Amino acid sequence: MRVLGIETTCDETAVAVVSSRIGGDGGDILSNEVMSQIAQHAAYGGVVPEIAARAHIDVLERLIVRALDTAGTDLSGVDAIAASAGPGLIGGILVGLTAAKALALAADKPFIAVNHLEAHALTGRLTERLDFPYLALLISGGHTQLVAVLGVGDYRRLGSTVDDAAGEAFDKVAKMLGLPYPGGPHIERLAEEGDPGRFDFPRPMFGREGADFSLSGLKTAVRQEIARLEVARQDGASQETARSGPTERDVADLAASFQAAIVDVLVDRTRSGLRIFTQSGGRPNGLVIGGGVGANGAIRRALTRLCAETGLRFVSPPPGLCSDNGAIVAWAGLERFARGMTDDLTFAARPRWPLDANAGPLHHGKA
Ligand code: KG4
Ligand code: ZN
Repeated sequence: MRVLGIETTCDETAVAVVSSRIGGDGGDILSNEVMSQIAQHAAYGGVVPEIAARAHIDVLERLIVRALDTAGTDLSGVDAIAASAGPGLIGGILVGLTAAKALALAADKPFIAVNHLEAHALTGRLTERLDFPYLALLISGGHTQLVAVLGVGDYRRLGSTVDDAAGEAFDKVAKMLGLPYPGGPHIERLAEEGDPGRFDFPRPMFGREGADFSLSGLKTAVRQEIARLEVARQDGASQETARSGPTERDVADLAASFQAAIVDVLVDRTRSGLRIFTQSGGRPNGLVIGGGVGANGAIRRALTRLCAETGLRFVSPPPGLCSDNGAIVAWAGLERFARGMTDDLTFAARPRWPLDANAGPLHHGKA
């Protein structure tokens, strides 16, 4: 089985063709074309929805042709067409969704509307053989949540952020430190040179019951520390030597201390989510990470340690499959298609689309 997948919910335009392997042993990525719009948004310090939608229109057709070519096929050689129908920016979603519907109609192929978060949550099954149920930590620019993945289309949110998403926290702190957008990779690079113990930033929600996250207090603590450093230096320096903004050393130490705090929070919340999962009578077959922040090496190492400690299998897709791409959408489409879950061409874009709408108890008959 082969599925074409289209992703346009945020600032990556992406198209891929993925095929299934015999025996449920993951999938093969036949092509995976990703075009990032970062350069177009960088000057604004974040994603500008109108620019994003127009940029998707500019490149999507070309990427579809390239993805089919690279996969050595054409539309007649794919079994279904999938697109992310949300959650995300409505303008961008409409571009990908409409293109997918048009292709499905023209080629007379089934159409599948994929929840973008579902695509991240199912990625572990694309790269490895992984049976349900399992735990997924989704950490991106727009979302931070722990999800019990019980089956295709069967998800329970165990916790989510009550304020900022993890990627948003990285990006906002990076902006305060004068780093370019998106800031996550820059913080990670600087953190390697900094002292994670210099600033004792708060670990919001640490040790709390439940698996919710809160990250805006951490961001505020970094802002206050930057202001304090500036005042201290201006007090201690002569007018000639006083400069505005933290020194290079300060920036590296702030990045390292911030990253250390966020790593601790993510590990603690995941540990708590795991506890909720097992207390309700289930045993996850692994922990999967997804979302752009999942590319962070410090986070991956810390989760590897947590899994080793708790005897859980850690499934960490390569960084290119953690950030937004078409292969994970094609794969989620393939998983749904294999179960007869196709959609009507009237399926509307869903800028807000919780993964566990209409969810029942965590474990049927046991919760
Ligand atoms: O999943 P994604 O590509 O797009 C969505 O938000 O859906 O995630 C982008 C986010 C940005 O906030 C970016 O700063 C963050 O992922 N990110 C990272 C790293 N690479 C990307 N954050 C921390 N460390 C990284 N290495
Ligand atoms: Zn994403």
